[in-house]
Amino acid sequence: MSDPISRNNPILPGATLGMLGSGQLGRMFAIAARRLGYRVHVFSPDCNTPTGQVADLEIQADYLDLDRVSEFARGVDVVSYEFENVPAGTTEACSRFSPVRPACSVLFTSQNRLREKTFLRDAGLPVTPFVAVRSLAELVTGLERNGVPAVLKTADWGYDGKGQVVIRSLDAASSAWSGLNVPHAILESFIDFDSELSVVGARGSDGEFVSYGPIGNSHSNHILDVSVCPARVSDRVTENAIEITRAVFEKLGVVGVLCVEFFLTKSGELLINETAPRPHNSGHLTIDAHVTCQFEQQVRAICGLPLGSGALRSPSAMANLLGDVWESGQPDWTAALKYPDLKLHLYGKQEARAGRKMGHLTALAENVDVAERTARAARDALRRAGFQTQK
Ligand SMILES: Nc1ncnc2c1ncn2[C@@H]1O[C@H](COP(=O)(O)OP(=O)(O)O)[C@@H](O)[C@H]1O
Ligand SMILES: [Mg+2]
Repeated sequence: MSDPISRNNPILPGATLGMLGSGQLGRMFAIAARRLGYRVHVFSPDCNTPTGQVADLEIQADYLDLDRVSEFARGVDVVSYEFENVPAGTTEACSRFSPVRPACSVLFTSQNRLREKTFLRDAGLPVTPFVAVRSLAELVTGLERNGVPAVLKTADWGYDGKGQVVIRSLDAASSAWSGLNVPHAILESFIDFDSELSVVGARGSDGEFVSYGPIGNSHSNHILDVSVCPARVSDRVTENAIEITRAVFEKLGVVGVLCVEFFLTKSGELLINETAPRPHNSGHLTIDAHVTCQFEQQVRAICGLPLGSGALRSPSAMANLLGDVWESGQPDWTAALKYPDLKLHLYGKQEARAGRKMGHLTALAENVDVAERTARAARDALRRAGFQTQK
């Protein structure tokens, strides 16, 4: 289907927005959409999902059931997605009945690490050095050429550090290759980075561009743990990161929201680690700390509306709440909510498993150091208090 949405022909409040995927990103999108007066239909293989709980309609079907996918797409005015592992065939099927934003081609490129890194490198953008690996022999050659340590990652289906292994010596190649057990992988140089940064951007159908950050990110067990905005970096790094992000949007032709994850090397160089064509965990702090949050920008961008201001209202820090916080029973929410400049967000997930993203806390303060201390202290208070309350 040709894409009729534009600034001259926007999708207005009252229309129905379709979301593929039903996790917390879809939930926060749906909340923003409903606040703006839209209806939301969500499609995923699950039911009573974080998104389904706040949507107008939750459709439970397999992503490869293209009859149901087509029916879903016929019932909405535009389709977006909240995670990059939606099969390309699913978005293609949607696009026969409804515009898909960002376009199917963007999803196709960014859902495979090899395609993504090759595209970005060929576009002249700075990426982590990498080689494609399809066999143990290729892995050994790659390690001999690029050296150790190195990171071996599955080309498809990686998230939150899943499907990757650090290789510290040539001897470890064989077990790393068999442990990954996939036909296509990417071998990256291990970057001894100074810090990790992200820039979340939004681009409208007329090319208008708004960005957030850079946001400073720290990970724990390869999962995002704490983000601060603005990141503690120089103006030069800030400008550079935003310019690279803008270039990614232009080269990929993104209409919608996309996040670029960066490594900042010890010599001050920015390298793209990966991109995600959707709102990002590090951008959750925009809900409370910015004039327009990343989810509202997603709604505005895919509907052809003017984007909102991305201005910072306050320095902020976000701490993720993983299932581990539930280890000793239901956390004591009042312990965190005693901090007056702190916001609690929970995603409505029924089961708290270790490593599962259940919610987040965002603290606002006069500077990011105070905000980070508050977010961490509030999260610690939840954990300490956990044993006092029953399940
Ligand atoms: N080449 C690398 N060098 C150093 N650390 C890395 C490298 N690749 C990944 N990591 C670490 O693992 C984290 C998760 O990896 P990433 O490629 O972003 O995968 P995911 O899709 O799981 O987010 C990164 O944020 C970083 O902390
Ligand atoms: Mg990542």
